[in-house]
Amino acid sequence: MSDVHFASDNNAGVHPRILEAVAAANGGHVASYGDDEWTQRAEAAFRALLGDEARVFFAFNGTGANVIALAAALRPFQAVICPEAAHLAVDECAAFERFAGGKLLTVAVAGGKLTPDDVERHIRGVGDQHHVQPGAISISQSTEVGTVYTLDELSALGAVARKHRLLFHVDGARLSNAVASLGTDLRAMLVETGVDVCTFGGTKNGMMFGEAIVFPRHHPAVDALVFTRKQGMQLASKMRFVAAQFEALLHDDLWLENAAHANAMARMLAARLRDLDDVVQLAYPVEANAVFPVLPRHAIEPLQRVRRFYMWDTERDIARWMTAWDTTAQDVHTFADAVWRIAAPQKSVAPSGV
Ligand SMILES: Cc1ncc(COP(=O)(O)O)c(C=O)c1O
Repeated sequence: MSDVHFASDNNAGVHPRILEAVAAANGGHVASYGDDEWTQRAEAAFRALLGDEARVFFAFNGTGANVIALAAALRPFQAVICPEAAHLAVDECAAFERFAGGKLLTVAVAGGKLTPDDVERHIRGVGDQHHVQPGAISISQSTEVGTVYTLDELSALGAVARKHRLLFHVDGARLSNAVASLGTDLRAMLVETGVDVCTFGGTKNGMMFGEAIVFPRHHPAVDALVFTRKQGMQLASKMRFVAAQFEALLHDDLWLENAAHANAMARMLAARLRDLDDVVQLAYPVEANAVFPVLPRHAIEPLQRVRRFYMWDTERDIARWMTAWDTTAQDVHTFADAVWRIAAPQKSVAPSGV
């Protein structure tokens, strides 16, 4: 089995420019817990993309970043309205419920996206002492199924959040892929749409580890974040090594380059399957760095032996193929050739173009 597969962008290694930045930061003693020049420069790099009001806090991982951001803004009798497949709801071992103490109101959504109507339907029991109080909406951008909210869709969610005084939280583990997909910028995506707080992913986009909690504009929860971060065990003592990675990621738009490349590899993989659509259909449009094919059952295990990947929905035979900053066109073509061979042995393999 080749080293590069399609299981997760988390499975990818570290971009060489990130590793170089870590090595370059590795000289002498510097102050800990963020009181260092790398942290200052990385924060400034985020402000250059978002505006002077933005505040940034670095954390170790995505689960922690989501939870401490929400914990900073919410009280334990409040609820977060989110799609039912939200990482926060299904892949974080109830960290939110345990640590922040609130409730997740999960919503069945179409195409991975929460809508203002979904939010309105879950505004219930406001002011009633027997009911959990809606406190936030949380979405993933890009979504858990590789789709991307448009700026208009985000603005509409921002408006409904303001209307009901809800925090608008974005799990941006793959935010870079969404920005690259829309060809927009961070300010348009986060500031102009009314996002209150976003976790900006580094790990899936070429970093070794590290996520940034970003408040695009001033928000009262900023003051609590330093405390929830420490209490939530997300404060790195050797912060310079997280910050140096972010500094390198934001420098010369490496974050966009990596994300755009991963997106392009997903589009290429989907394009190779276009003439196979009587055998392999796509469950969701390919808008970021993921492809969700519905596979013939007989093809699943043999294909998993070619390149590793996870099944997203075993009842409907939907697989999840993720591409990453280091996926090559050759990886895509080798895998796509195998899909043709294994899923549709009666057909001749469509030319790969390489
Ligand atoms: C949408 C989303 N949010 C957050 C995370 C962060 O997870 P972790 O705590 O593993 O860094 C992931 C990782 O898979 C993710 O897919």
